[in-house]
This record gives sequence, structure tokens and C-alpha cells, in this order.
Amino acid sequence: MTEKEKVHIFDTTLRDGEQSPGASLNIQEKVEIARQLEKLNVDVIEAGFPASSPLQFEAVNRISAESGKTVAALCRATEGDIQSAAKALSQARHPRIHTFISTSDIHILGKFGHDRYGKTLAEKQATILRMAVDAVTMAKSFCQDIEFSAEDAGRTNQTYLAEIISAVIEAGATCVNIPDTTGYTWPSEFGQRIRNLRQHVPNIADAIISVHCHNDLGLAVANSLSAVENGARQVECSINGIGERAGNASLEEVVMALKVRSDLHNFATDIVTEEIYNTSRMVSSFTGMIVQPNKAIVGDNAFAHESGIHQDGMLKNRQTYEVMTPQSVGVPETHIVLGRHSGKHGLQSRLAALGYKLEAQELENVYQRFLNLADKKKEIYDDDLRVLMGDEMQKTAEPIELDYLHINSGTSSIPTATIRIKTPDGTYEESSTGDGPVDACFRAIERAMKLESSLLNSYSVRSTTAGRQALGEATVRLRDKNAFFTGRGVSTDIIEASAKAYIQALSLRQDALRQNITTSIDNGI
Ligand code: KIV
Ligand code: ZN
Repeated sequence: MTEKEKVHIFDTTLRDGEQSPGASLNIQEKVEIARQLEKLNVDVIEAGFPASSPLQFEAVNRISAESGKTVAALCRATEGDIQSAAKALSQARHPRIHTFISTSDIHILGKFGHDRYGKTLAEKQATILRMAVDAVTMAKSFCQDIEFSAEDAGRTNQTYLAEIISAVIEAGATCVNIPDTTGYTWPSEFGQRIRNLRQHVPNIADAIISVHCHNDLGLAVANSLSAVENGARQVECSINGIGERAGNASLEEVVMALKVRSDLHNFATDIVTEEIYNTSRMVSSFTGMIVQPNKAIVGDNAFAHESGIHQDGMLKNRQTYEVMTPQSVGVPETHIVLGRHSGKHGLQSRLAALGYKLEAQELENVYQRFLNLADKKKEIYDDDLRVLMGDEMQKTAEPIELDYLHINSGTSSIPTATIRIKTPDGTYEESSTGDGPVDACFRAIERAMKLESSLLNSYSVRSTTAGRQALGEATVRLRDKNAFFTGRGVSTDIIEASAKAYIQALSLRQDALRQNITTSIDNGI
């Protein structure tokens, strides 16, 4: 058999994925996900967009300091952005600067409309080409591995696209990325675009062709695979397909499609597919973005068989209704249940199996939470542990804590909440009525914290496991000018979980204010 051709997997969960509405991650969570991506064996971890905020800078810096993988940092084609990316990557063993600029007519006219970029479209295109080449040349002075992205390449004039791609390769780009930024293209059309570049860019063999497909029409994975068939050798994708708007191509779908249908082609990735499920769950629990039950590969129903005919077929031969085994993507066959008597060691080894590496103090903290939970809930499942870990990752330097909560609510009474909060500066107690118990609770917190206006941007609550004793996980997102803070709270009582989530988000905001890292730019992607 001929040797398989490698398709590089570039994971953008921590950059484009984090741009999903409501998915902001703190630094510790990003570091933990990067460690798991390393176990998954992705080729490139795109860790963030350093110039967009001090938080992003710090995350890229921390991940590149510890990762053995190629770590990419995104930057616009500007001097300041490139310098910031290079600085954030300064400790990386394998740094990659990923610079981008828009190339489609619609983007150029919209984003570079000012006359200083040229008066006509042709003049503006010439300016963009120069900016792209300058950016790659400058980036090359910091590191060898340079990726250039032609933003909205899916709708870019193909002659111009070929011209700019050729020029950036000439300037030193080692990887040229062809994003379908708006998820507009059709698989055969997108494949043809890749083929066209291979035919019309004379130096194309000097760079790896990458694709980055968005899922606005649900075609991101199909487009990525079509691109591979036509010459792309890097696919940019994210865990659970998270990303801007409808998201990016989902890593698990791209990888498993290539693996399961290897009878059709000669491509392979280096992904350790047995780590897919743990990675998916970790990303879902840290981002608070629930995986839809019928999601391919990682959804709860992906390997569930409901009808009698299917169950009967499965019992006789699993292949009647399954094209891959749950084990091949790391879905556990049996659900291991922990309880009060499991002990610290039992907890530690279960957490390790789920992909969490803990320092001694972290383990101690999680163990205490585990014991508290075991008092309320007899059986503790993997998803409960993931939630506890999510809680642990949200710790701040000087936490604000919920000390006391009393709720009065019912079918014929006005919902009232009394709350006591401990902050590094003192203890504050307040009461408030509200439209419902959660509203009353949030109002009492706002009074206690002396907030002039509510910073609440969004709120959601979900049950993490099934059954009456299930843990409720609340997510609260606050917006303070340009910065977002997402807090999570868990409890078997959803009002308490909601209060904890609000207070956690305030804690994260306080932390950022203290470190003066609340500003972020509109990244213009
Ligand atoms: O969707 C897009 O075009 C991007 C680029 C910055 C790669 O995310
Ligand atoms: Zn994107």
C-alpha cells in the first residue's frame, strides 16, 4: 500500500472558537485546553490574537511557553499587531505568526474604503497586496514559520487571489490559508479554487495550502474535504465546530471522515482519535457551549440506538448501524460513578483519565468540592467532575464569594432575595425584590456591589447530568465596555448556581481591573 499523505490539523478552538458569541475563556482554561490539544496531537495550536487584548496576549504567551507543538498567533497585516504576535510567541519552541488581510472586493471596498488605500478598486487591491507582502516580510524577521490568510478568499477574484498568494510566498510565507470566511462556497466550487491556485501560482509548491471554512451553510466540513482532495494539506478547524457565527469546520468530523473513509483516498492525520471525546467535553464545559445531542461523533446520541430494529441489529453485529466504534473516538463504554467513599486518589485518577492534570493544591481544592457535592448527590459522574474542574479553572486571585443566600418565592408571593457577599474589602449584605427569584438575586448582588447599572449581558442555566439530583450549571456573561466576563456557578440548587455565576463573573472583572487588562479591540474579523 502506498504511504498516506499527511493532512495537518490546525486547531483554532482557542482563537476563532473563542470568538463564538458567549464562549470567552480565561487564561487558565485556555492553558488546560491547549494541554489537551497536545494530547490529541494536533499539528498547530492557534492560541489567540495577542494584539486584540492583554488577556489574549497573556494566554498566547503562557501556552507558547509550555507547548511542544507549533503555536500560532493571529495578527492583522500591521506593524503593531505583528510585533505583538512576535512578542507573545517569544518563548515558543515552534512559533508561527499568522497574518491576514481581506482580499475580496466586498471586503476591500467595505473595510478599506478610505481614499488613503487608493481611489479605485484596482488601486486598493495594489495597496492590499503591498500590505500583505510587507506584513509577511516583517513577520519573517521574527520567525521562519509564517502563515498568510487571504480573508474572504472564498469570494475573492481568482486572478487576484493567485497574484497575492504568489507574492506572499515570494516574501517568505510557508503556509497560505484560503479561508471561506463567510461559509458561502459550495464543495466542488471551493475545491476548484484550490485547484486553480495549484495551476496558476508558479511557486505554490514552496508553501503548504491551508483551508479555513466557516459553517454558515453547514458545508464547512464538506468544503474542507473537497479542498483536501484538490491539494490542501492543512485544515483549520475547531473542537465541536465552535467559532464565529455558525462556527468553523469541526475537527472531529474532518478527522473521522478522513479516517473512516480511508478506503476512498490516501490521506491521514496524526490525531489520536481516542482523545476526541475528552477534548470535546472539556471545551464544552469551559466555554459553556452545549454540544447538540445529535452532533456527529461527539453528541450524546451519536452512538445511541433507539428503535427496536436498530437495537436488535446492533446486538447481532455492531456494524449494521455503526460506521465507527465509540471507543475509536474515546466515548466511554461504561459510566464510572464516584461517590463519597472514592477517596482523593480515586478522584485524581478519574480526573487524569478525563484529561485534567492537577497540581497538589488544585487537587485538594477540587477534592473539597467533590466531598461537598457528594454530600448532596450520591453518584458523581464524569460530567459532574468536568463541571467541578470548570469551577476550579475560574479561580481568581482575590475572589468575591457568596457567603449567604436566602430566597423567598412562590406562586403568590413577591420574589425576594437576601444576599451576603465577601469581598477582599469587606462583607456586604443587601436584599431586593425581582420579577423572579433569579432576578431578585441579581438585583441584590448589584446593590451589594454598588454597581450603578447592571452589567448583565446574558444568562443561561442547564442541567449537567440527568436525574432529580442533577447539578445545575448557570452561566452569566457581563459586559463592561468592550470587555466580556463569563462566570459559571454550579450547585444542585439552580438559584444558588445563578448567584455564584454572577459573583464569579464579577470576580473575574475585578481581577482584570486590578491587572488593568479590561480593554480589547474590535478585531475586525
Ligand atoms: O474566517 C477567517 O477568515 C479567519 C481568518 C482570520 C483566518 O478567521
Ligand atoms: Zn474564521
